[in-house]
Amino acid sequence: MKSYVITGATSGIGKALTEYFSKENFVFAGYRDETKLDDLQSDNIHPFYVDYAKPETISGAIGEICSNTEKIDTLINVAGCVVAGALENISPSELRRQFDVNVFGAFELSQGLIQKLSGGKIINISSMASYGIFPFISPYCASKRALDILFNSFALENKKGIKVVSVKPGVIATPLWSKSIKENSATIENSVEYKNESDYLKKNALKNEIKGLNVGKVVEKIVKIDGLQNPKSSYCVGIDSVAASIISVMPQEFLNKIIKYKVKKLK
Ligand SMILES: NC(=O)c1ccc[n+]([C@@H]2O[C@H](COP(=O)([O-])OP(=O)(O)OC[C@H]3O[C@@H](n4cnc5c(N)ncnc54)[C@H](OP(=O)(O)O)[C@@H]3O)[C@@H](O)[C@H]2O)c1
Repeated sequence: MKSYVITGATSGIGKALTEYFSKENFVFAGYRDETKLDDLQSDNIHPFYVDYAKPETISGAIGEICSNTEKIDTLINVAGCVVAGALENISPSELRRQFDVNVFGAFELSQGLIQKLSGGKIINISSMASYGIFPFISPYCASKRALDILFNSFALENKKGIKVVSVKPGVIATPLWSKSIKENSATIENSVEYKNESDYLKKNALKNEIKGLNVGKVVEKIVKIDGLQNPKSSYCVGIDSVAASIISVMPQEFLNKIIKYKVKKLK
């Protein structure tokens, strides 16, 4: 039996991964909402509480995991959220929350588990947003890029043989999209000047939640990566993610012109 730590285990990608890996392995599963604990009832699952928007909860999570296992084979950092809207209307506290959840939380938890991860793997659920070409979700893009940069450096530095992989899904059909509309409603309401863009964001999010790639495609990719002795440092999931990786190498000036043109045409 291998030992896994999976954050964000109560919804979307994290939930699907927890269901898959707990069939034949032991999973420490991160949750922030006690009302969802019923989903984590299994002999092979040890739930642990962590809310990255409350950084003081991270040390308790590390203690809970470390006192219940000698070794972790794979840590999968899944928990994440989206802070979106016109940058000029996003409050500094929301910008901080984006980085607390998507970057600092994942990094602090990983740091606390390093001794147990010796010779193991860290798989981060980054995003095609890490390629950084999407306006109106720039906090999210910046957080995913920051996550990738920090962990890539950790991969180069660490002497414990810990392999680090960034998985960059494109649009996946999960509740992330409707949550993002709810969580960003204040910014959206305040963005009268950007009504067209906000309306488009909302419409697109609702479409993505239904039409995105099935979550099983992400699970499939991660299971494959987890089984490799020498995985690559980065993997795309979905044709949109591959396209973003290609487009992102174009000169910024050229890219900005195309994006500006597209944004102008939004209705
Ligand atoms: N869906 C996509 O199209 C897509 C594409 C690329 C990358 N991703 C990334 O994939 C990861 C999983 O997202 P998903 O699509 O599966 O969305 P999801 O269904 O909303 O799952 C996100 C998970 O993160 C947890 N979470 C959110 N805020 C947290 C916090 N403050 N502290 C601890 N946990 C927190 C959520 O807890 P609750 O269950 O309590 O809400 C949930 O379990 C995220 O990192 C996301 O950025 C998603």
